[in-house]
Amino acid sequence: MQIERLLQQQGFGTRKACRSLVRRGRFAVAGQVIDDPFRDIDPAGLVFTVDGQDWPYRDKAVILLHKPAGYECSTRPRHHPGVHTLLPPQFLARNVQCIGRLDADTTGLLLLTDDGPLIHALSSPKRKVPKVYRVTLRHPLEEAQRQVLLAGVVLNDDPEPACAVAAELVDPHTLMLTLTEGRYHQVKRMLAAVGNRVEALCRVAVGGLALPADLPPGTWRWLDAADLERLWSKT
Ligand code: URA
Repeated sequence: MQIERLLQQQGFGTRKACRSLVRRGRFAVAGQVIDDPFRDIDPAGLVFTVDGQDWPYRDKAVILLHKPAGYECSTRPRHHPGVHTLLPPQFLARNVQCIGRLDADTTGLLLLTDDGPLIHALSSPKRKVPKVYRVTLRHPLEEAQRQVLLAGVVLNDDPEPACAVAAELVDPHTLMLTLTEGRYHQVKRMLAAVGNRVEALCRVAVGGLALPADLPPGTWRWLDAADLERLWSKT
């Protein structure tokens, strides 16, 4: 693939901008500057450098962001900055989108990609991909309330009850809640429906993929093939 095209595909700007970037000596592979934008290069397994920063070539970008509170998942945020502001601009240029949304005050594991079929598959209710939330509650959760969450609660916009597939108390104010759907404000509305209130919400896993303990809030990392397998391992 020509370097100019490769860079454009990876989100480094228009063809013209990428051509100029290469001609200015800002592109390198294995420490060697390449200033011919039309040189053919094999993208498989390629790690290239732009302005000294390494970039693995990815046909499709799939990344995991540890979302902090105070960011919106929308690309046109209204009340808070968007999560895209936490990422290199190349991702927005590639049209990387959130796979499902977290509320502005929710923290934790957020996946983003420019792989349309992956967004579709992970968001499809038919696939029943489990999402695990650590819920901090205002009031201690009673056993009867926990049972209602498992049996299903009716939320006001939908006669179909919303059921948790698991609801484990860590302590009276901390619940690990697993859902396979993604309805609007679902966790907060389910807890409100049983007479409690969510004080803080963190998504700690999607499928078999857990929020990495060593990934600080506001930072991101690429997903590799093993991570993608983990994603599907609980479906
Ligand atoms: N449920 C909610 O209420 N909020 C989220 O951000 C995710 C699930």
